[in-house]
Amino acid sequence: ASSNTSIDDLTGETILITAGGTREAIDPVRFIGNRSSGRMGFAIAEAARRRGARVILIAAPTAIAPPAGCEVVCVTSAAEMQAAALKHLHEATIVIMAAAVSDYTVKAATQKLKRDQSRILELEPTTDILRELSTRRNPGTLVIGFAAETEDLLANGRAKLERKSIDAIVVNDVSSPNLGFDSQNNAGTILTKATEVAIPPTTKAAMAERILDEIKKLRTQPNS
Ligand code: CTP
Ligand code: CA
Repeated sequence: ASSNTSIDDLTGETILITAGGTREAIDPVRFIGNRSSGRMGFAIAEAARRRGARVILIAAPTAIAPPAGCEVVCVTSAAEMQAAALKHLHEATIVIMAAAVSDYTVKAATQKLKRDQSRILELEPTTDILRELSTRRNPGTLVIGFAAETEDLLANGRAKLERKSIDAIVVNDVSSPNLGFDSQNNAGTILTKATEVAIPPTTKAAMAERILDEIKKLRTQPNS
């Protein structure tokens, strides 16, 4: 079934959504970041609000302003996102992890690095927030992740679905130009344990509705 945006079918749900791209400081003025604009996460937040959900939006830096009506928590680093997400986890009936989270944090310098200093950055792995949220969730809470891939999309997506013990994963091909990062449009495949739903190239707003439709199906058909 296609989305029906006139129905408040998410009334009663509290959806915790992460969006944007985390930043890891290198020194007081520099960071390691990524190309996430926050548009996909914000589109899901906006659609979820319109469909009647309470939305807790944990936003790392983004290129755009968050949609109205959401409870916005601003964070910068992966560690801050982890803390904010854990703080609000037990209010959530659905968790959607759309943020692009750094896999590594940096041992940051306390003073601004000089041109002739430190060409080697000391990296430490960050926590897999999605996996931690899935492990610590309340019974009945649905957890959905994203995977931005450049190759072997479906196999990589299925592996992450398993490894992170989540209910669904939205896989996008970020190697295609004009889609995904920095774009108004997106395409992908929503994988659950039993299903595979392709979403052809469309606006992030329309893709958000499709993603929420699939989550709604998981609620009503929990064995999919
Ligand atoms: N994610 C997370 N915490 C991290 C890294 C990723 O919660 N430290 C989440 C992302 O928000 C996304 C999902 O995990 O919803 C998949 O992210 P991805 O980078 O594709 O997976 P990784 O497990 O980091 O694997 P890799 O980068 O090696 O492909
Ligand atoms: Ca990663």
